[in-house]
Amino acid sequence: MAEQFQLQLVDSHMLYDSCRHMVFRRVDGQAFRFIAGQFIQLHFQHDGADLRRSYSVATVSEDPQSGVEQIEIAVSYVSGGAATELLSAMQNGDRIDASGSYGRFVLNAEPERRNFLIATGTGVTPYRAMLPQIRSFIEQANCQFVLLFGCRHGHEVLYADEFQAMHEQVEGFEYIPCLSRTLPEDSPDNVRRGYVQTQLQQFSPDPGTDIAYLCGNPDMVDDCFRMLKEAGLPVPKIRREKYVSPVIRTPKAPSA
Ligand SMILES: Cc1cc2nc3c(=O)[nH]c(=O)nc-3n(C[C@H](O)[C@H](O)[C@H](O)COP(=O)(O)OP(=O)(O)OC[C@H]3O[C@@H](n4cnc5c(N)ncnc54)[C@H](O)[C@@H]3O)c2cc1C
Ligand SMILES: NC(=O)c1ccc[n+]([C@@H]2O[C@H](COP(=O)([O-])OP(=O)(O)OC[C@H]3O[C@@H](n4cnc5c(N)ncnc54)[C@H](OP(=O)(O)O)[C@@H]3O)[C@@H](O)[C@H]2O)c1
Repeated sequence: MAEQFQLQLVDSHMLYDSCRHMVFRRVDGQAFRFIAGQFIQLHFQHDGADLRRSYSVATVSEDPQSGVEQIEIAVSYVSGGAATELLSAMQNGDRIDASGSYGRFVLNAEPERRNFLIATGTGVTPYRAMLPQIRSFIEQANCQFVLLFGCRHGHEVLYADEFQAMHEQVEGFEYIPCLSRTLPEDSPDNVRRGYVQTQLQQFSPDPGTDIAYLCGNPDMVDDCFRMLKEAGLPVPKIRREKYVSPVIRTPKAPSA
């Protein structure tokens, strides 16, 4: 069940010019319990309105359900965004109301033979939190995880060192950054040019062996969902988390 609490910013750094890694602690000193893949909500006022925005928890822990000291998130700045304005100005020691944990975008209790993890931008943060669970699945079951991660440029690949290390150390974990704008000449062999959809197609998704998790840009999520359905995957084997702002979700008023 979700709890309400206050958070204090204790650390942060820029992942790239418009994306900030932020580290919070609960002001009440309590540990924060979550399942890897879940999100928190931040509550704040903007222009006299009470707003909430959701952020996936990026904290890596062997046992997040027992509680963690630090809540890490990655915030991608959106031009003119209310939360963006607040979070980009926060300094260490500043406080904000929050609640959580929320969401069902978590790994199934049993892995499939091949498990696609597909993300764009900050949509990769749930998969960072899932890394210990993924490692243990690969060790215990004869299964494969394939992370397809879409970003514009090499320097925007979030947590690249952590994913690349797992790719190199753990047989069964394949990591493919997909760069939509530029492919630097010195990129590692596993980096590709283009959208995640192109790479997904090349794996020939198979309903007999596969499940797919999709997170981030809503257009990417819809596109991959369509491709996977056409390949024969049943809907319960296509798990989705769309990073849709409440503003985007508001339907247009009918014209007079
Ligand atoms: C379950 C869930 C988890 C999420 N996790 C994360 C996360 O880990 N990290 C993260 O950065 N965001 C995440 N988001 C998105 C986040 O909640 C906010 O929507 C985002 O930070 C923008 O909020 P804002 O108040 O700054 O912008 P708003 O004030 O909501 O929007 C300002 C303007 O920008 C447009 N806009 C909003 N978002 C986008 C976008 N992504 N791309 C293009 N235009 C946009 C709006 O339509 C509006 O015109 C998540 C969303 C959901 C639903
Ligand atoms: N340089 C920039 O233009 C820039 C940089 C940072 C942030 N922003 C803005 O900040 C906000 C959030 O950016 P973000 O980087 O966190 O997330 P994002 O906009 O979802 O972009 C992340 C990655 O997803 C790709 N993408 C976009 N549409 C796609 C689709 N339909 N299918 C597959 N991949 C798709 C993008 O490629 P493409 O963009 O190449 O299509 C990019 O490589 C957006 O408003 C964004 O426009 C812009």
